[in-house]
Amino acid sequence: MDDLGKGLEEAAGRVDRLMTVLLADGRRPPRLMEAMRHAFFAGGKRMRPFLVLESARLFGIEGEAPLHVAAALEAIHCYSLVHDDLPTMDDDDMRRGKPTVHRAYDEATAILAGDGLLTLAFAILSSQGTGIPAGRRGKLTNRLAIAAGIDGMVGGQMLDLGAEGRFRASGKPLKLGEKAVRRLQALKTGALIEFAVTSGGILAPRAERAEKQALTVYGRELGLAFQIRDDLLDVEGEAAMVGKAVAKDAEKGKATLVSLLGIEGARRELDRATENGRAAIAAAFGPRAARLIALLDFNRARQH
Ligand code: IPE
Ligand code: IPE
Ligand code: MG
Ligand code: MG
Ligand code: MG
Repeated sequence: MDDLGKGLEEAAGRVDRLMTVLLADGRRPPRLMEAMRHAFFAGGKRMRPFLVLESARLFGIEGEAPLHVAAALEAIHCYSLVHDDLPTMDDDDMRRGKPTVHRAYDEATAILAGDGLLTLAFAILSSQGTGIPAGRRGKLTNRLAIAAGIDGMVGGQMLDLGAEGRFRASGKPLKLGEKAVRRLQALKTGALIEFAVTSGGILAPRAERAEKQALTVYGRELGLAFQIRDDLLDVEGEAAMVGKAVAKDAEKGKATLVSLLGIEGARRELDRATENGRAAIAAAFGPRAARLIALLDFNRARQH
C-alpha cells in the first residue's frame, strides 16, 4: 500500500474506533442507533478525517485533539449524505454500494439519524474530552457550525436544489453562469473540505499566517476539484464502481461545471485546480505536504 493509502486507512481506523464507542446503543432507541451506524460505517473514503489529521500533523500535532475534530466533521459529512439522498432531495436508493438509510429503514428514521449525527458532531467537538484548550475548541466549533450551515453546506444544498428549477412555476432549470456554479459548489462541498484542512492551523499554537493561507488555498482548490470529479463520475462512472446511481445530474438539471463547460472543459478545470492546490501547499510546506499532494492526484483520477 502506498503512503496515501496508509494515511487514509489510519484515519478511517482511528475515527471508526472512536465512533464505535460514541454510537453504541446504551439506553438509546435501538432503531435510531442502527440507522446512524448504517450511515456512518457504510464504507466512505474518510477523506475529510484524513485531511484533518494530516493538516494537524503538518504542525506536529497528533493524538486525541485532531481525532475528535476529524470524527465531528465526518459525522456532519455522513449526515449531509443521509439527507441529500432523501426522496425529497436527490432521491437516491444507493450510497457506498448499500441501500441509503431511508431505503434500509424509513424516511422518518433517516431524518432523525441525520439530525442525530449533526448534533452529535457538536457534542463531540465542544466536549472537554477532546483535550483541546477551551479557546481553540470554541473557535473550531464556531468554524464548523459556519461551514456546515447557511453560509456553507446547507446554503449550498439549497442553491443546488433551486438550480434544478423545482421552486419555479415553470419547473425549468436555472441557467447559472460559471461564477454562480462555482459559488454553489464552494458552499455545498468546499466549505467542509476547507474546514478540514484549516483545522490543523487552528489547533496549532504557532501556525504562521502564510502557512494558514496556503492551507486555505489548498482547501478551496481541493474542494472544487473534488466536486468536479464527483460530477464527472456521474457522467462517466459505473454505478457498481462508484457505489451510487450515476447519470442523474443532467436529468435533474443539476448545475455543475460539467453541464456548463462540457466534459473536456471540466477536466481542464479539474487539472487547473489540482495544480493550484499543489503549488500552494508545496510552497508553504515542501516535502512535509507530500501526502496532501498525493490526495490531490488521487482525487483527479478516483473511480469512487
Ligand atoms: C460525496 O462525498 C458527496 C460530495 C460532497 C461530492 P464523498 O465522495 O467524500 O463520500 P464518501 O464519504 O467517500 O462516501
Ligand atoms: C452532495 O453533492 C453534496 C453534499 C453536501 C451532500 P451530490 O448530491 O452531488 O453528492 P452525491 O453525488 O449524492 O454523493
Ligand atoms: Mg445533492
Ligand atoms: Mg446527491
Ligand atoms: Mg454527485
